[in-house]
Order: sequence, then C-alpha cells, then structure tokens
Amino acid sequence: MQLPLSSNEAPEIIWRESATSTNTELIQLAQSRELGDFTVLVTANQVAGKGRAGRAWEAPADVSLAISVLLRPQLKGETDFSNLGWLPLLAGLAMSKTVMPLVALAGVRGELGVKWPNDVLINGQKVSGVLTELVPNSLGFAGSPAVVVGAGINILQTQEQLPVETATSLALQGVTLPEALGDKFDLVLSSYLRNLKGLYVLFKAAGLDSDRSGLRQAVKDNCISLNRDVRAILPNEREIVGYAKDIDATGRLILDVAGTDTAVAAGDIVHLRHR
Ligand code: BTN
Repeated sequence: MQLPLSSNEAPEIIWRESATSTNTELIQLAQSRELGDFTVLVTANQVAGKGRAGRAWEAPADVSLAISVLLRPQLKGETDFSNLGWLPLLAGLAMSKTVMPLVALAGVRGELGVKWPNDVLINGQKVSGVLTELVPNSLGFAGSPAVVVGAGINILQTQEQLPVETATSLALQGVTLPEALGDKFDLVLSSYLRNLKGLYVLFKAAGLDSDRSGLRQAVKDNCISLNRDVRAILPNEREIVGYAKDIDATGRLILDVAGTDTAVAAGDIVHLRHR
C-alpha cells in the first residue's frame, strides 16, 4: 500500500495486508528489534482486534483502519512516568481532531468529541475507539517504558457491517474521501498521525506534564462527558452515578457523587442528562 502522506508523519510505517491485532503485532516487533519512537503498524484487515475490557474489536476487510503507534518518550531526570496514563487520552483527542473537520465538511451538526476516556462519538454514535498497552519489559535506556497506542477508526462501513447500532462510520456520516481506497486510508491515517504527533511532541516538551503542556485543558475542552450526569461502570462491575465535573492531573474522571468527589481511573461511561 502506498501511503505518501502518512510516510511524512512517522519514521517508519509498517503496512500489513492483514494482522491479528496491530497492538499485539507491534508489541511483538518491539520485543524482537529496536524500533524508533513513533513507529506505526497499520492494517485495513485486522482479524483478531482487541477492544477495551477484554472485548473484541471487529470489522470486515477494507472498510476501517487499525492503527498502532509505539511511543517511547526518552526523558531523563524527574519525569513522573505515571503521566503515561495521559497517552490514551491524547490518542482520543487526536482522533477527534481527525474526524471533526471531515464530518463538519459533510455538513454534520451536533455533538462531536470524546466520551471519557477515548471513544470518539458523533451525536452519540461511536466512530473510533482506543486501546493502549504497555510493552512488557520495555524499560529504555532512560528508564522509560514503551507504550503501544492502538486506535480503530470506522471509515467505510455500512450500518449492517457495524457490530452495534450505536456505532457509525465516516461514510455513514456522509464524509467524502478520495476515489482510490489507498488514498482514502492515507488521508485518514496521515491526519491522525499528524494530530497525535503534535500532541505527543507538546507532552514530551513539557516533561509529560499535562497542565504545563496545556493538554489537560485541551482534553477537557474536547470531552463531551463533562458537565453532565454519567453512569460509570467500573472494572469490578460496580456502578456509580454522578455529575462529571473534571479530569484530574492524572487523567481520571472526577464525579460528584452526592456531594463527594469520586475519581474514576478506568471503566465505561454512559452519558445521562445534561444539567
Ligand atoms: C474499544 O473501544 O474498545 C477500543 C478499541 C481499540 C481497537 C484498536 S484497532 C487497533 C488496535 N489493535 C487492537 O487490537 N485494538 C486496537
């Protein structure tokens, strides 16, 4: 696959005609040879895609992209690597910035942004999801672990090709893309990589500080889960309902539950009403 636009956005782009899971394949590659920061592994035919919380991420061939990016910030000194928890949120923001101009050009109006932590929704329908995984035993020479950020983006699916009714694709939103399939993929991929790189460079330049980089504010501005009531389904299946009021310095969603602040670090969010 020729990807002329995308090739400008990453040191190495590995195109796979098919892949089990791009995350799994990039992790395996990172363990078998030295890969540069921001190496990309991508396919339009992922046959064993992984979703969050152990779910599957499925799509027929040639209608979507599965994109995994290796991030290995080489930083020295006092860096707090717990801030790597921001990377999944940055990926959601980057995908949202990719989708936004395309659907705006298609005349779509309404609510577009990220449902915490990183699902991109267009008027309540999911067009993209992100799964981030640590590369096991990956401490670099500066003591930084490597992370694989994987994003799936629905591009050409019909409603019948989507796993659930609450999912959508760019095509279903009326987005027009170039004629040739390779050019369609190149346009979406290059835009996502450019957006992700921009955010990542800022984050690294600020020593992975989400406030100093301005990224906490940028993520909050784009997060459609804030300033409304939400139900959080936690990994242990426990559910809490509260008013989503903030994203804290470590990326957790802060809920006001009957007057008490409760931090949600992981889980599925269901949007309830605005107040
Ligand atoms: C979710 O919303 O549940 C997350 C979906 C993440 C899917 C992407 S596709 C590229 C990368 N490879 C995978 O196996 N999963 C992620």
